[in-house]
Amino acid sequence: MVMNFVANPDITVDRSVRHFIFKAASLAFAVFFATSGQANETLARKSDCLGCHAVAAKLVGPSFRDVAAKYAGQPDAVEQVSTSIRSGGVGKWGEIPMPPHAKLSPADVKKLAVWVLNSK
Ligand code: HEC
Repeated sequence: MVMNFVANPDITVDRSVRHFIFKAASLAFAVFFATSGQANETLARKSDCLGCHAVAAKLVGPSFRDVAAKYAGQPDAVEQVSTSIRSGGVGKWGEIPMPPHAKLSPADVKKLAVWVLNSK
């Protein structure tokens, strides 16, 4: 009885502490993803992508949502889309070519590719 009385509050405290840490961690992740999404949108704006693309509408190029849908479930999607962003291309979506973006660093190209592929 005495053992129980002593042990139970400990368990309760332990659980709520763990719960708190879990909540704090999920919040940190949510903030991290939200801000990294924003950072990538800024990167897209800086890199002139949004002059020809929008997330949800076709402009000169396909909407990023359509690109994400086309590559959904393809294991090499990030690589393929990275190559398209870096080298440009024509014929996958229509007759208008996309110019190459050779000045972007490989890390920025990858960030943009992942961001595009996560468009909803
Ligand atoms: C001058 C207009 C223009 C600019 C600037 C531009 N794009 Fe494009 N983009 C296009 C066109 C047009 C296509 C379709 C090409 C095709 O049919 O193959 C395209 C296609 C794409 C695709 C699909 C590629 C594929 O493999 O299916 C992605 C992803 C993409 N662009 C991302 C970007 C990103 C990121 C940027 C900025 C770094 C950017 N685009 C800048 C016009 C542009």
